[in-house]
Amino acid sequence: MSTKKIAVLTSGGDAPGMNAAVRAVVRTAISFGMEIYGIRHGYNGLLTGEVEKMGLRSVSNIIQRGGTSLLSARSPEYNTPEGVKKAADKCRELGIDGVVVIGGDGSFRGARDLTGAGIPCIGVPGTIDNDISSTDFTIGYDTAMNTAMEMIDRVRETSESHDRCSVVEVMGRHCGDIALNTGIAVGAISTLVPEVPFDFEKDVVDRIKEAQATGKQHFIVVVAEGVGGVNEICKKIEAATGIESRATVLGHVQRGGSPTVRDRVIASRMGYHAVELLRDGKSNRVVAMKGEDIVDYDINEALAMPRVFDEKLYQISMDLSR
Ligand code: F6P
Repeated sequence: MSTKKIAVLTSGGDAPGMNAAVRAVVRTAISFGMEIYGIRHGYNGLLTGEVEKMGLRSVSNIIQRGGTSLLSARSPEYNTPEGVKKAADKCRELGIDGVVVIGGDGSFRGARDLTGAGIPCIGVPGTIDNDISSTDFTIGYDTAMNTAMEMIDRVRETSESHDRCSVVEVMGRHCGDIALNTGIAVGAISTLVPEVPFDFEKDVVDRIKEAQATGKQHFIVVVAEGVGGVNEICKKIEAATGIESRATVLGHVQRGGSPTVRDRVIASRMGYHAVELLRDGKSNRVVAMKGEDIVDYDINEALAMPRVFDEKLYQISMDLSR
């Protein structure tokens, strides 16, 4: 039997820890006696032929780096039936008989389509948002939360010095997980997430006033990107409470930086598992974390899973921040 040839790509928004996952895929494949190829710029690289054979040293010195050494892209051309066929044909031309796709839900849909076109794919969840329902944890999420926490701790020092309210926007378009956890970690007086409808008077103004009445003089409000409007929120807080307020949008600073231990280790375990699946002839699966275990699901099942917001954690954030 000929040597199995597999490839790896990163797609969609980059996330710290993607490099650790790429390294794990490359080194596991070599340990299992497979040939391994790196595809640059996500699915686009299959269309433009940016595919290179990788060796042990191709992934030296990247485990500690944010971003993705394979580069990433969102590819409109790939997202057409013709694009998928072209990508599958490229894999066949190169003799690639399996692809590990590291990315979010959109990248998993791409992996499902490529599997449908005859190239077995395995998805590995990589995105800072933690918005993939099939897994408890996505690669990059832990680092992003730690970065947001550190940045808000800094904002807090200036906020405290001036008796101000700081309203900080963290990333998360549809998912409030970064906001909720960093809100708890920085002791935000209020945390606004897209999953929970809020009443501005009750959930922001009244909470600030009640804490002010017990002697609190500076305040942090954490707002998920999906809620947005931090400048407007500042103006409304000033008008309702008389407390000078400032808005900060953390933005892409949360996407970079050296990955945490947790992100590096989970990325390594997930990358390893993905290659085990291809070695065992599996296809159309996504790797996931359930509790502390690494598991896998059929991609279609994974994409259909409903997202569960942690209501209890939200309640804890409300009860502790006063
Ligand atoms: O999905 C990750 C994420 O960082 C989101 O939190 C954010 O809304 C989006 O990507 C930003 O995308 P882009 O880098 O394309 O502007």
